[in-house]
Amino acid sequence: MKVKPIVAGNWKMNKTPSEGYLFVDRLKNLLLDIKNVSVIFAPPFTGLFDMNIKEPLFSAAQNCHWDSSGSYTGEISVSMIKDCGAQYVILGHSERRQIFGESDELINKKITTALSGNIMPILCIGETAEERDNGKTNMILNKQINNGLKAVKDIKNCIVAYEPVWAIGTGLTASNNQVEEAHGFIKNTVRENYGKSQDIQVLYGGSVNESNSEELFNLNEVDGFLIGGASLNLDSFVSIIQIVEKAQEKKL
Ligand code: PGA
Repeated sequence: MKVKPIVAGNWKMNKTPSEGYLFVDRLKNLLLDIKNVSVIFAPPFTGLFDMNIKEPLFSAAQNCHWDSSGSYTGEISVSMIKDCGAQYVILGHSERRQIFGESDELINKKITTALSGNIMPILCIGETAEERDNGKTNMILNKQINNGLKAVKDIKNCIVAYEPVWAIGTGLTASNNQVEEAHGFIKNTVRENYGKSQDIQVLYGGSVNESNSEELFNLNEVDGFLIGGASLNLDSFVSIIQIVEKAQEKKL
């Protein structure tokens, strides 16, 4: 894959704007040598405006609304996040699906709105422990991809994050086989829908840390990470970025 691997930090509902600004400011100086990796910070909306970063650092929103403006108290539009300098938006995270009841259909509306506003969606998909135990993993991934990307004509600006729900914030990571199988399945599903030459970038998420990131990144079809807990800690996040940078250098 020609595009750079991604290491994205999803801060969820953590860090005030000033904490986030300080964190990124310190981190920037530790990443001056990074050439082979795109680093994405996804602060809460309130921190998005103050990111003050440039390539290879980017920012992402953790959500957006499907409409361009209007009477939607408490919501944020694509043009608002774009005006804050964000290039990406995380959509369909399992916490949005489970806690806030977001359906594939709703996520699809947000994806098409993000794309038409020139924001790249990072579509999160993944099975629960129960679904995996019942042999439904591929069925769930297939459904979440097909419904999430419905009517999307060109997928070159979409990214998928495979995040098994049971691995998020639990300290449990999917096994190497499980990761390779799921990522392969996702890429094949996209090729079936969009043509053989269409390669989508697939990130892994779920308890990624400094100790497991090298092994995970070297697996087939892993194009980077979406990281929650470990992205909140400066040392851990920098270490993971450096590990991916070195591992990618070896691949080139
Ligand atoms: P985690 O979260 O790294 O803390 O498991 C990942 C995520 O929710 O994207």
